[in-house]
Amino acid sequence: MIHPLFLALLRVALVSGLDAPSAAVDDYDVLQYVNPLIGSTNGGNVFAGATIPYGMAKAVADTDSPSRQGGFTFDNSNITGFSSLHDSGTGGQPSLGNFPLFPYVSCTDDKVNGCTYPKRTRKTTYDRDSVVASPGYFGLTLSSGIQVHMTATHHTSLFRFRVASGQTTSPLILLDLTDLSDSRQDNGTIFVDETTGRLTGYARFLPSFGSGSYVPYFCADFDSDAGIRDNGIFVNSRADTSVKNLTVSRSINGYPLPAGGFVRFNHNVNHTILARVGLSFISTAQACRNAEDEIPNFDFDATRSAAVNVWTRKLAPIRVSRTGVGSSVLTNFYSGIYRTMVNPQDYTGENPLWRSAEPYFDSFYCLWDSFRSQLPFLTIVDPSAVSRMVRSLIDTQRHLGWLPDCRMSLCKESLLGYTQGGSNADVVLADAYVKGLSEGIDWDNGYAAVQKDAEVEPYDWSNEGRGGLASWRILNYIPVEDFDYLGFGTMTRSVSRTLEYSYNDFTIAQMARGLNKTGDAEKYEATSRYWQNLFRADQTSVISGADTGFKGFFQPRNLNGTWGYQDPMACSNIDGSGRACSLQNTGAETFESSLWEYQFFTPHDMLTLVTLLGGPAEFTRRLDYLHDRNITYIGNEPSFLTVFQYHYAGRPGKSTARAHFYIPRFFSPTPAGLPGNDDSGAMGSFVAMTMMGLFPNPGQNVYLITAPFFEAVDITSPLTNRTAKVRTVNFDPTYQSIYIQSATLNGEPYSRNWISHDFFTEGGELVLTLGRNESRWGTSADDLPPSLPVVAPGPSVDDI
Ligand SMILES: *[C@@H]1O[C@H](CO)[C@@H](O)[C@H](O)[C@H]1NC(C)=O
Ligand SMILES: *[C@@H]1O[C@H](CO)[C@@H](O)[C@H](O)[C@H]1NC(C)=O
Ligand SMILES: *[C@@H]1O[C@H](CO)[C@@H](O)[C@H](O)[C@H]1NC(C)=O
Ligand SMILES: *[C@@H]1O[C@H](CO)[C@@H](O)[C@H](O)[C@H]1NC(C)=O
Ligand SMILES: *[C@@H]1O[C@H](CO)[C@@H](O)[C@H](O)[C@H]1NC(C)=O
Ligand SMILES: *[C@@H]1O[C@H](CO)[C@@H](O)[C@H](O)[C@H]1NC(C)=O
Ligand SMILES: *[C@@H]1O[C@H](CO)[C@@H](O)[C@H](O)[C@H]1NC(C)=O
Ligand SMILES: *[C@@H]1O[C@H](CO)[C@@H](O)[C@H](O)[C@H]1NC(C)=O
Ligand SMILES: *[C@@H]1O[C@H](CO)[C@@H](O)[C@H](O)[C@H]1NC(C)=O
Repeated sequence: MIHPLFLALLRVALVSGLDAPSAAVDDYDVLQYVNPLIGSTNGGNVFAGATIPYGMAKAVADTDSPSRQGGFTFDNSNITGFSSLHDSGTGGQPSLGNFPLFPYVSCTDDKVNGCTYPKRTRKTTYDRDSVVASPGYFGLTLSSGIQVHMTATHHTSLFRFRVASGQTTSPLILLDLTDLSDSRQDNGTIFVDETTGRLTGYARFLPSFGSGSYVPYFCADFDSDAGIRDNGIFVNSRADTSVKNLTVSRSINGYPLPAGGFVRFNHNVNHTILARVGLSFISTAQACRNAEDEIPNFDFDATRSAAVNVWTRKLAPIRVSRTGVGSSVLTNFYSGIYRTMVNPQDYTGENPLWRSAEPYFDSFYCLWDSFRSQLPFLTIVDPSAVSRMVRSLIDTQRHLGWLPDCRMSLCKESLLGYTQGGSNADVVLADAYVKGLSEGIDWDNGYAAVQKDAEVEPYDWSNEGRGGLASWRILNYIPVEDFDYLGFGTMTRSVSRTLEYSYNDFTIAQMARGLNKTGDAEKYEATSRYWQNLFRADQTSVISGADTGFKGFFQPRNLNGTWGYQDPMACSNIDGSGRACSLQNTGAETFESSLWEYQFFTPHDMLTLVTLLGGPAEFTRRLDYLHDRNITYIGNEPSFLTVFQYHYAGRPGKSTARAHFYIPRFFSPTPAGLPGNDDSGAMGSFVAMTMMGLFPNPGQNVYLITAPFFEAVDITSPLTNRTAKVRTVNFDPTYQSIYIQSATLNGEPYSRNWISHDFFTEGGELVLTLGRNESRWGTSADDLPPSLPVVAPGPSVDDI
């Protein structure tokens, strides 16, 4: 234990600027702290398998769990196969999971018809203790005794099947023309090369949360000491070695007809069989080329160590001090970071929809989730990747007319419906713009793309852009049951759409300022305040029969200007009514959350909001009520910013306390440790940024400062090689002393409770002295993050 006098002396030294605490952050292997199984059950839906950052090939065991969106679910479900395309953490239907392999030790009576082909009947249990998962690697042992391990390159997975039964066997591996959702359409096709056993083919499938369809291609090769015995195709439950090519119908009974190919291996005592599966969205030839280029020699260990190296490089920019914290805290943190780079997926060169020299990313699932902290986080640690994503979004707009909200499997969202709220690609572009990303980005085109969202209503705004623009211009809000004959979409979510469109406009205004389009900037700043038109000053909230005592909430408004009504707690975490709150056409006026939570969504106009809600003390009391009464649900993204919005009421200490309220209680490093869908890494980024003590207000050049969960954090900018260092004095790993008492930046006193992106690009040292109680630090008006100035929005303000 450190003597208090020493700490006092240290503080004196600090104040006099003699010496900063030099809690050096040593380097170490971070991958030991990455557990890809976090969120693999309990609805986290993460992809737990082998991939490289943003990789297209994602190899894992698939299960028959009802919650198999990411392929492998660590519950008591059974294994249906091992496939190579996946998404991570998504809702909707199970995504991808195409062309699974499935191995048999041998077939009954040594006949190919002695093996079981359909997924429903072949699925099998596995040894739970055998499951291993680490970056670039996944494996388990089936109850048949076959050990299956896998690794991946960008477009190719490599599976290793080990059969060691002690007897002479002739294993069979089948490849099934199916996917996780059983969505195969007509004419799935496979070719079997008799000599080499190479299996190639393709099929058309449906996206998990989108309109249209997509066609993936595969090229599977096998490598085995025993050599290939024979091969052929199967249809339904029957197989034959004399038939080598197959094109199969969808069939008419809902479940596509089981069909595919197989390869059998010569009799041997023990077998190690490598299966290399190349993938493409262009052609089987390209799938084969990808495989041959990326894994020429079937070298499993070399492929795995290349994956480990690329993950090590990607995680290199961030190191935290391990002093005092256990591996559980470190695993929570680094695994969160890891998950931010699993999706989106880099499909550059694999886009069949248009020809372009620009990068192409897919699996934005959805930007409504990832704009809040995932893409801002990557802007710090992997800015080149974000620049490529932004270029891809702009190029998508160039070729399809609109920026996407959701985009997966080369399709735009729309199966269930729709863009979830606003045109939040605007926030993504603005965030990158205000943080100075420039590598190859054409910002004139970027600005034109976001401006189109604000100005032009698409015919089908369930997929893109915004609806109700005529009402927006005339009424200055989106009304309930809008009259909209210009474009079409689901007429719900009028309140959350109004709030999101307002914020989208603010972010566009910032881009306009930067581009010297002053007129546009003023225009969009003005429209960014339209949220105020839905504030009903006399609205109360009754929960379980008791008045909460708070007055003033957003409410829906009609076309004729009169108020509609939605209970402020409807669609909250504690609303047990079962009402529709998502994209159903009977859905509420708020999307996937309550008016209670959406009342805080004015990220740019916080001074006015705090004023409207009764001033800083009342605002703080309300935010406490939101969290303490479980009204908010930390497992969905609208909650993220509310954890930190105490900053805007001059109570930054309460933001830190709230961060500890949620982590690790709702986010822990176990398979069941996530409170909801990881949403392509959105939850992972929440954990990472919260624990590093710098949370973004996305779309603005603002990070809200809280005490990190570590004694020290180093973040080195890959663009400049400069290091942003956060150091704490009096770090307390029991998290009793979590309140910032004072701060210095590069040795100078620093009282603002936020910092801008320069900290990361220029580097510097932010020293936070911690104590057990809230302090005056960061509390005065000058210390608060930027906000539009208070503007009285109407008569309601006079009441305050
Ligand atoms: C998995 O398969 C085993 C053996 O067939 C069966 O007993 C078990 O119920 C299956 N598990 C699930 C969740 O269906
Ligand atoms: C086959 O594998 C078994 C189990 O791993 C091992 O004991 C045996 O020595 C192996 N036999 C041969 C011929 O490699
Ligand atoms: C399937 O193939 C047949 C024969 O080539 C063709 O007529 C039909 O249009 C195809 N169906 C689809 C859905 O592509
Ligand atoms: C099977 O497909 C291969 C590859 O396209 C082709 O060369 C061959 O002629 C086909 N065989 C039959 C019997 O259709
Ligand atoms: C905007 O104007 C300022 C001041 O004239 C200038 O320094 C800056 O380069 C301009 N920016 C752009 C993007 O044109
Ligand atoms: C305004 O519209 C609402 C909803 O359509 C309707 O119930 C109400 O009667 C209208 N009020 C007036 C004054 O027209
Ligand atoms: C909130 O939920 C937690 C469990 O997640 C429970 O322990 C607590 O009692 C709840 N609080 C209220 C006020 O309902
Ligand atoms: C950053 O460091 C790397 C590796 O040392 C070097 O290759 C790169 O050029 C440096 N970049 C800058 C901007 O200094
Ligand atoms: C800190 O807060 C505790 C209660 O949480 C209180 O007992 C103590 O007096 C406070 N210390 C100071 C220095 O204000």
